[in-house]
Order: sequence, then C-alpha cells, then structure tokens
Amino acid sequence: MANLIFPSDFEWGAATAAYQIEGAAAEDGKGKSIWDTFTHQKGNILNNDTGDIACDHYHRYQEDIALMKEIGLDTYRFSISWPRVLPAGKGKVNQKGIDFYKRLVNQLLEAGIKPAATLYHWDLPEQLQLKGGWENRDTIYYFQEYAELMYSELGDLVPRWITHNEPFVVSMVGNLFGEHAPGYQDYNKALQVAHNLLVSHGLAVDSFRESGIKGEIGITLNLNHVYAKTDSKEDQQAKDYCDAFNNRWFLDPVFKAKYPTKLLALYQDKFGGFEIETGDMEIISREIDFLGINYYSRAVVEYAEDELLKHKTIKPEQAIYTAMNWEVYPDGLRDLLIRLNKEYTDKEIFITENGAAFADQLAADGQVHDQPRVDYLREHFKAAYQAIEAGVPLAGYYVWSLLDNFEWAFGYSKRFGIIHVDYQNQQQRTLKDSAKMFKQVIADNGLTD
Ligand code: GAL
Repeated sequence: MANLIFPSDFEWGAATAAYQIEGAAAEDGKGKSIWDTFTHQKGNILNNDTGDIACDHYHRYQEDIALMKEIGLDTYRFSISWPRVLPAGKGKVNQKGIDFYKRLVNQLLEAGIKPAATLYHWDLPEQLQLKGGWENRDTIYYFQEYAELMYSELGDLVPRWITHNEPFVVSMVGNLFGEHAPGYQDYNKALQVAHNLLVSHGLAVDSFRESGIKGEIGITLNLNHVYAKTDSKEDQQAKDYCDAFNNRWFLDPVFKAKYPTKLLALYQDKFGGFEIETGDMEIISREIDFLGINYYSRAVVEYAEDELLKHKTIKPEQAIYTAMNWEVYPDGLRDLLIRLNKEYTDKEIFITENGAAFADQLAADGQVHDQPRVDYLREHFKAAYQAIEAGVPLAGYYVWSLLDNFEWAFGYSKRFGIIHVDYQNQQQRTLKDSAKMFKQVIADNGLTD
C-alpha cells in the first residue's frame, strides 16, 4: 500500500453523546429526559439497562480528556443534555449544568482539542414530551431558545456546532418503529416530528447567525448508500424508494427546500400528510457551513410489492457483519461522499460518526485486541481518502465512539468504543488496539506502510 496522507488541515476526532456516557442522571439539578423515562420502563432496553450511570463521564471527564490527549485527537464531538441545562426544557436555567459543559469545553481547549457540540442527541426534556414532544410545534421554539442559551454561554469557546443528530432516527426509530424513546408506532406522528425537527434546525441556524459568534454550524444526518440487488426496473424502483425514505427525505429539504415529490404525494394520499406552514421550507434550507454524516453500513434492497415503500432490505452473503449485524462495506462511504458532493453540496463535509461494535474482551494481558475494529476503521479511512482524491471537500472524521457506552435499545451489550470501559470494575478505561492504531494514524496524518 502506498502511503495515504490526508490534507494537512484534516481533523481527526472521536464522538460521544450525553445520555450514552454522562450518567449523573438525577444529579446537580438535571431534569428528566425521555430517555430516562423510556429506559426505566421494563422491556424497552436489552437487560433493562439504563443510562443512570453509563460511563460516569460527568465525574470522569478529566480522565477522559487525558485519554483523548494521549490518542492525539484534534477534535472531540460531544452532545449537550438539554434537561441538564434547562430541567423543564424551558424557563429556569440550571447553572450547575451549564458549569459542567464550561468545565468540559475549557479543559478540552487547554488540552488543545477542538470542541464540537451537538445540541440535540435525542434526550428531549420529559416535561416537553408531556406537552406533545416534537410533534408539538411549540417544541421548535423551545429548542431555538435552548440553542440561544448555549450560544451565549459557550459560543466563544466552541467553534463547531451541530443542531441535530440524525433526525431520521429521532422521527422514524422513535415514532414509527417504536424502538427508541418516546416509543410510538405512528406514521403521522413520525412525519410531523421529522418536519418539526428540520424547522427547528433552520431556526437554530438563524439564531446562530444573529448571535454573531464565530464558528460554524451544520446538521448531522445518518445516511446509508443504497444499492439495488439487480439492474431490473423493479429493483431500481425499490432503491429509489429506500433512498427517498432514508436519505432524500432529509437531504432534499435541507439543501433543496423541498420534500421528495413522489414520496410526499404517497404520504399525503395514505396519511393525509402533515402540517407544513408557509415559510417552513425556506427556514429548513437556511445555508449551513458544513454537512455532518454518520455512516455505518450500506443498504441493499430488492423490490417488494406488498410493502408501502416497495422495498425490502436484504443481507448480502459472504460479507463481514459487525455485532450489530451491519454489513461492513467501506466502499459505500466513498460512494456516498461522492454523491453528496455531486448532488447536494460543495460545502465541507465531516464524517461525524463511523465505527463498529464487536464482541471485545479484555485479554489476559490486560489489553483489548480488537483486530476487527482496527480493520474496519482502516478500510473506512481508505474510503474517505479515495473520496478526497475524487474531489470531495471532506474536512474531518470522528470515530464512533471514544468510549464503550450505552447503546440505546441494546444497552451495554454492544461495544463501539476505541476505549474499553469495564463497567464491573470501577469504570476502568483501557485503550484498545484500535485506539493505538488511531493514535498512529493521527500522528502520521494518514495511513502509512
Ligand atoms: C448512531 C447514533 C449514536 C450511536 C451509533 C451506533 O445512530 O448517533 O448515538 O449509538 O448510531 O449505533
């Protein structure tokens, strides 16, 4: 392999989210989020795990920053827990919550690590859910107020902001599939939630511009590149539907101020549609500074007559699968990046999440030899490099995740970290082989022989 050296200003990082790592779920005045409620209802989460303690990062953030520094991260993506700073979602501010994020960000800066803050990584204040949650249009404006609070408290310290993480997952997995909080299975609700999330994104961008703070703002979408099983007309149609549902439903409004026409018509016909107010599409499509994408796998689909959206996902044989049963397919990352640049944006793109869960174990030598993750990451770095070579303005890459953590419906059973967390043994952190490999990649700014 020839050396693959990335552009000199390329940023290497790792990502986490508040509910997945912080713990301290009821400490220092934090309010409840929908995830606190959802995890405490028996049967929602594997083994009935909760994020009450998680990685105890709220108390161990200094140790975690030291580990980031040891790996050599340029940047760290974390999320702010809305109910930690605004326990009821609006109104009274919890100063202790604000202080925590100030301490975190200041220490990151001291360590020479650029903070990237996500405003919404799924932990809606429970008090707002009781008023209808994201389905209620008022939540859009409460989100904007929360964003403004964070800009004024942290704006001069945080140079990169992400409004939302994965509106697809929030709307569809939380409100249509029912696997995530708040746990509904209702198409109308899911569509309204998706729309309201996007409007709130646009308003948070407006407030960011008005605040005059320096820095950049964007949104993170989870996208998977879709491939048809065959070239048949039917399979191509299946691919088109799947892409519209997963990807274009979010990309088109943000970049083209419209919903995919065919799918919108189908939804209107089938469910009577959802409320779009005058001016909403302009708000959603406000200019952003970068697009964040989370990429884990691809989708391969075939035509399915009985399905509303005419497709069904298939699992290619002879592929490697992660512990999530997701196919390892690095070429999809390259293809996706090239497509985004060609069809949607010539702005910077960040891979805000990419990584894999495997059944890691602490070995007798006290180390974690996670060769499958080492291979996964290196192959995806190569794919990212190829996209840059093809002209994509890819500006950075965040591995998911810094730490093993609370993996939503799967609880602690899935480990995504490049740092092992021993939950049974005082939360002990151990750099896995993948972290050591990443350290070398960062030091070399790429892959060397
Ligand atoms: C993403 C999510 C992360 C993480 C990851 C792995 O959808 O943003 O929080 O859990 O998936 O499943």
